[in-house]
Amino acid sequence: MTSYAPKPIPTQERLIFALDVPDLDTADQLINTLGDSVSFYKIGLEFFLSGHYFDLAARLKDQGKKIFADLKLFDIPPTVGRAVAQLAKRDVDFVTVHGNDAMLAAAVENAGSMGVLAVTALTSLDRGDLDDLGFDCDIEALVLSRARRALALGCHGVISSGLEVQALRQSVDNALTVICPGIRPVDNVDDQKRTMNAHEALAVGADYLVVGRPIRDADDPRAAAMGLQQEIASFFE
Ligand code: C5P
Repeated sequence: MTSYAPKPIPTQERLIFALDVPDLDTADQLINTLGDSVSFYKIGLEFFLSGHYFDLAARLKDQGKKIFADLKLFDIPPTVGRAVAQLAKRDVDFVTVHGNDAMLAAAVENAGSMGVLAVTALTSLDRGDLDDLGFDCDIEALVLSRARRALALGCHGVISSGLEVQALRQSVDNALTVICPGIRPVDNVDDQKRTMNAHEALAVGADYLVVGRPIRDADDPRAAAMGLQQEIASFFE
């Protein structure tokens, strides 16, 4: 177990499935296959552009699922604020904003009961990528600074690689919710360069785990999701 106090989140909701699919048929098939193995869906840009985003989100809500709109909003603060106000009219639990303090503040101000999550550093970036982008601080310093400011601005939490969660738990208030994408089996090789397995991420203090392709692309997606749910449940037993 951990040295931090786990938040009272229903265990089944700690697994967030990234529904990265292009159209409604594919989404429906996957959702039917997954059934009760997934309670929390992250719906991002790919499906948003299918034209069926809110129909599907409403249906998932009717089934008692939670929804995370991963839209990584980034624009001038008034535009971010107005976009978040639009989304807040829907029944959505979390939204991501990938911006500076003013953008986050505008999002929080317009979010209603929706939780605003700040993106810290995309998990597909490594040191070389950050150098290319002109960030000369280390990834951990960048994540910690963004997380502290996000919490102070009223954000519900942050998206962070599992590799920075321990540092976040040590130096940022535990009120911060930490959501970790890039969760992988140990031997997985793809574009997620900064990964951890589920048990490792929970052990350092992740509140939620985001898993996409290891479930979506599995021969048996339901079995893959159930396997992760068991791994999560066994951690908290
Ligand atoms: O398929 P995979 O498990 O890599 O999915 C990870 C999901 O998490 C993707 O939908 C991606 O957009 C998202 N994500 C990420 N890194 C972040 C924030 C979100 O990979 N920092």
